[in-house]
Amino acid sequence: MDHPGAVLFDAYGTLFDVYSVAETAERLFAGQGQALAAGWRDKQIEYTRLVTTSDDGAHYQPFGELTRAALRYTCKRLGLGLTEAAEQQLMGQYRTLTAFPECREVLQALKRRGVVTGILSNGDPGMLDAAVQSAGLEGLLDHVLSVDGIRKYKTHPEAYRLGLTATGLAPAQIAFVSCNGWDALGATWYGFRTLWVNRYQLPFEELGTSPERTGTSLRDVLGFF
Ligand code: LAC
Repeated sequence: MDHPGAVLFDAYGTLFDVYSVAETAERLFAGQGQALAAGWRDKQIEYTRLVTTSDDGAHYQPFGELTRAALRYTCKRLGLGLTEAAEQQLMGQYRTLTAFPECREVLQALKRRGVVTGILSNGDPGMLDAAVQSAGLEGLLDHVLSVDGIRKYKTHPEAYRLGLTATGLAPAQIAFVSCNGWDALGATWYGFRTLWVNRYQLPFEELGTSPERTGTSLRDVLGFF
């Protein structure tokens, strides 16, 4: 099989560590940092699905706003009093999430091979730019694609189609990398070649489709070449 002409990465959870907010959350709410980080992430994703499946974009809100709404919900759910200052601190951290340590070397290795690189994310452009800049990855990405323009979140096929429009390649010529099982599944259904990076030793989704590859770090993307 020919090697892919482009590699597109999911952003949150894949290049950027969404659970790195747990430390700040723990400082603010002792004993609840992990629960808040995990619940916040789940609610955020649930909201993306809610606004995508309920209508044709009428209830769409950018990812940053859904992230804020999910934070407020999760704090209420856990009985944590979220002050304005704490909300600002946690939301601010989301703009400058820690990138996983191997990101840079993997992107550099792909660029050395002449591969087109990019992000294809639910994040809105402002959030993505801030995260990419704060991680110092801007020179290593040819595309930073956000679903914001189409007002539909992954796993809607229109969201994955953004990768084709940007690269001019067919799905089978694009490798898509995600640490999120649901996203690796959606991308496989769409027809991309896929790598699921299973960082947390989780089972894959039980829906009868498997990603082309499963790995444990972003380095495993080099196995496509
Ligand atoms: C992303 C999130 C949802 O698309 O992981 O970057």
